[in-house]
Amino acid sequence: MPRKLFIKTYGCQMNVYDSERMAEAMGAAGYEQTATAEEADMILLNTCHIREKAAEKVYSELGRFKGLKAANPDLKIGVAGCVAQAEGEEIIRRQPLVDLVVGPQSYHRLPAMEAKVRDGGRAVDTDFPEEDKFAHLPARPLPDRAPTAFLTVQEGCDKFCAFCVVPYTRGAEVSRPVARILAEAEDLVTRGVREITLLGQNVNAYHGEGEVGPWGLARLIRRLAKIDGLARIRFTTSHPNDMEDDLIAAHGDCPKLMPYLHLPVQSGSDRILKRMNRKHTAEQYLRLIERIRVARPDLLLSGDFIVGFPEETEADFQATLDLVEAVGYGQAYSFKYSARPGTPAAERATVDPDVADDRLQRLQALLKRQQIAAQEAMVGRNVTVLLEKPGRLPGQMIGKSDYLHAVHVTTDQPRGTLLPVRIAASSANSLAGETMTGL
Ligand code: SAH
Ligand code: SF4
Ligand code: F3S
Repeated sequence: MPRKLFIKTYGCQMNVYDSERMAEAMGAAGYEQTATAEEADMILLNTCHIREKAAEKVYSELGRFKGLKAANPDLKIGVAGCVAQAEGEEIIRRQPLVDLVVGPQSYHRLPAMEAKVRDGGRAVDTDFPEEDKFAHLPARPLPDRAPTAFLTVQEGCDKFCAFCVVPYTRGAEVSRPVARILAEAEDLVTRGVREITLLGQNVNAYHGEGEVGPWGLARLIRRLAKIDGLARIRFTTSHPNDMEDDLIAAHGDCPKLMPYLHLPVQSGSDRILKRMNRKHTAEQYLRLIERIRVARPDLLLSGDFIVGFPEETEADFQATLDLVEAVGYGQAYSFKYSARPGTPAAERATVDPDVADDRLQRLQALLKRQQIAAQEAMVGRNVTVLLEKPGRLPGQMIGKSDYLHAVHVTTDQPRGTLLPVRIAASSANSLAGETMTGL
């Protein structure tokens, strides 16, 4: 009987990718994945440390496993991801139920750590080893896969925004070599994947070793676009300062690169941007957006915002609203500033939480209006939808448009189909599509 592994994933898309790869590494060690913690012989929480609430959730979740461990003394509990990296052994001190703590750069060592805890030990590994952890993980197995996949091409960050833990939890920027990425992408496509999202904490800073010297992200995308059967390429997350000319050009002349870009700016106030150590002004960001829109006029833009950063005034916040008005986002994420221990901003005086809450609500209301407007602007237009899964109603399928809108459509085509549809209506969080007659 194979042992059962339950993985719960928090945080960003890179954690989703890492969880898949950990499941594979543990698969080779005799584990099979299960969807419930109750059935598991091993529980792994793949954690996020980006905001205080995210980290606290991990501890409350761990507390809930007490009963399970009492019922099954063989149950092992592990913590992976960015809380593991940030807190290390402290996790075991605070929650003695935990057997294993593994940082994001050590996943290839997970099977050996599991063997150690099966022998009754504890295992903690938060090293930043030199080697490419992915090179040591087994190839992805052949299950009934979704037609979309993530592929990590770059990890870590050298930017050190004053509020952010990522440079500490994920370490310095490292790019995977081109040949490995191509091999992984080709493998995914032979397994039915039609859309690949290239991942990196700073994906457009990609500079992986190619045939002769390093390649940038644009060159990598153009090479990936030559893979037959791969229909769509996306990438996330980008930093404005790494949007090089060739990447902007690729948005105009590489048809497989989808017209959607997540380009966080965080604030519209130059004073706050400077304190955040973002190394660009609001004006530079706006000019950059203009240039990208020249290359691809229908591009849908997404972003991230932080409100209530230390010393943010009402005028600073108004500058953020002005920037949002000027850009017009198709969708965006916004957060209340959360002080992260060890980051420079955590030393500074915080904004009154009620003021920050009020600003967050105002910003979110504006972003929501823009999102709805962008969705409504799709009505009547023809888009292509990559069918991903059955919808709620019989005969319905759900997929994503080129612009990453969720679209539901009545069709007998299977998942993995790229279906041309006409957008008929827009509702709260999705669009309704109709197949076009004569196709
Ligand atoms: N690497 C990406 C995103 C990193 S985290 C980038 O540079 O864009 C995702 C988002 O979380 C950030 O863009 C930021 O908006 C938000 N975030 C990061 N640290 C935060 C903090 N301390 N408080 C509130 N939001 C934060
Ligand atoms: Fe964090 Fe800034 Fe790096 Fe993004 S660019 S991961 S926000 S330090
Ligand atoms: Fe969270 Fe780590 Fe991702 S802190 S957002 S899981 S890089």
